[in-house]
Amino acid sequence: MKGIIFTSLADMVEEHYGLKSWQGMLDACPLATGGSYSSGGIYPDKEIMCLVGQLQQRLDVPLDILLRTFGEYLFECLSKMHHNYVISKASPRDFIMSINDEIHRDIEKLYPGTSFPFLEYINDTDNGLSVIYKSPRKLCFLAEGLIQGVANQYNTDIGIIHSKCMHRGDEHCQMDLTFYE
Ligand code: HEM
Repeated sequence: MKGIIFTSLADMVEEHYGLKSWQGMLDACPLATGGSYSSGGIYPDKEIMCLVGQLQQRLDVPLDILLRTFGEYLFECLSKMHHNYVISKASPRDFIMSINDEIHRDIEKLYPGTSFPFLEYINDTDNGLSVIYKSPRKLCFLAEGLIQGVANQYNTDIGIIHSKCMHRGDEHCQMDLTFYE
């Protein structure tokens, strides 16, 4: 997984819980890299899973809540780094509809070896849109937090109903979005 995901997690932990907490999480995980991450590097998926698991144990919060919170924070980091996408999209709907075929595709070209989810858009109505999420990493709660991050960026609310979920035995996840503009 791309280094920006690790450096954003480190920033969130350090900001909210202090450097000692991050150091403790690094010490508790077997890390090939020793835990020195750079935003441009690529690191094993299992390292981020272990670090998130450590944080979950320390905070004693459910994984879905933790991943949503992290997703919201991560969006701020990603959008600062790739602000051109935010300014080129007039609405949160346009932004969300460009993730799969534009944003993730561009980044994949820039950094070969990254692994993105497959997103598909259905039920496109006046104020609604459903996003289908498929990924072997099953990070759908992270996706929810990232969508919340888009809402924050555009100073608006987006209702999110996670109507299908791989964690509940469905083949893929589905998030039914309502845009309040
Ligand atoms: C400026 C906006 C965005 C940028 C630059 C961006 C970029 C990235 C990058 C670099 C990764 C890591 C891939 C890897 O390490 O292999 C990633 C993963 C991911 N992205 Fe985005 N992303 C953006 C917005 C979003 C949004 C709004 C969503 C919400 C659906 C989303 C969903 C995900 C998910 C869920 C992952 C984790 C990997 C997985 O589920 O398989 N991204 N993205």
